[in-house]
Amino acid sequence: MATPTLKLAVAVVVVFVSAPISSSIPFIVLHGIGDQCKNRGMTQFTELLSKYAGVEGQCLEIGDGTMDSWFMPLQEQTDIACEKVKKMKELSGGYNIVGLSQGNLIARGIIEFCDGGPPVKNFVSLGGPHAGTASVPLCGTGILCIIADALIKAEIYSDYVQARLAPSGYLKIPTDIPDYMEGCRFLPRLNNEYPNERNSTYKERLESLQNLVLIMFDRDTVLIPRETSWFGYYPDGAFSPVLPPQQTALYIEDWIGLKTLDDAGRVKYLTVPGRHLGIARDDMKKYVVPYLVDGLPINLSEEESSSVPRGFSSAMDSAANKAGQIDDVPSLSPFRIEVDE
Ligand SMILES: *[C@@H]1O[C@H](CO)[C@@H](O)[C@H](O)[C@H]1NC(C)=O
Ligand SMILES: *[C@@H]1O[C@H](CO)[C@@H](O)[C@H](O)[C@H]1NC(C)=O
Repeated sequence: MATPTLKLAVAVVVVFVSAPISSSIPFIVLHGIGDQCKNRGMTQFTELLSKYAGVEGQCLEIGDGTMDSWFMPLQEQTDIACEKVKKMKELSGGYNIVGLSQGNLIARGIIEFCDGGPPVKNFVSLGGPHAGTASVPLCGTGILCIIADALIKAEIYSDYVQARLAPSGYLKIPTDIPDYMEGCRFLPRLNNEYPNERNSTYKERLESLQNLVLIMFDRDTVLIPRETSWFGYYPDGAFSPVLPPQQTALYIEDWIGLKTLDDAGRVKYLTVPGRHLGIARDDMKKYVVPYLVDGLPINLSEEESSSVPRGFSSAMDSAANKAGQIDDVPSLSPFRIEVDE
């Protein structure tokens, strides 16, 4: 009679021992323009977040990385990302997204447009041009930048440029709204801006987030205005003042559910010190990590020396080592993540 009980007890112990220590879900990172997953800044950022949060995270690449981030239209980039997340079995139970700069619009594209995609729980956005940006900074030197800069200076809302330059999909010149509404192919749909075509599915999907974390860099000079990181923007027709998110039509008329989320206390408007994407490790711990641990209590002041998730560190170390040899495109640095001490 005692034997079955004993077996059961042993089974229970085994289950407990082999259960994962943390119940947290994985996350993906979407990099900014001119960056790629294998660059050192990206591998370091992803690795540190994984380590601090104690969960598996990976950078999701779209196409070939740097070139496609500049020249592939954002709808195409979103479609590729959507197909990828659908194929990633580890995400099927839900996952979190950390977006960097332009990557935030792809993240929102995945959340709003990706039919049949796995559920996104928390979306942490660092320096995202959510309401658009009024100027795309010139790329710099190098052959890639010569092409990019020529397109930036051309007719930005023409079909020609829209099909060839990713940031043209979210360049919103406040004094040229009619052309933006007519020609811009990505942001007006993402933000449900077309008066007679607001798609309630996009809104419902964004409203399903547990947390929408909007991080603005206080010295950001890449995003114009930097408040676009919070969905703040200029009024139609003028370059001033910068309206806070709550005074924009997108919010007041709740085109994408931002107001609904905010009323429910699920939008976090955060400011961190630094220039565009220049984030300190302490601020990663304070502002990003808490949303990746899915409700588990964590002690942010704990020593970092603790373990990287099992089986994860070696792959990342070798990726970082390799990246060190490839990471040599300094002219693009304003758009790339750098982790400060
Ligand atoms: C709204 O978007 C959903 C999801 O992509 C799509 O299935 C639906 O057809 C769209 N509705 C309209 C009216 O366009
Ligand atoms: C977090 O860690 C610090 C330093 O180790 C300690 O003083 C503090 O009590 C801890 N807080 C919690 C909530 O465990």
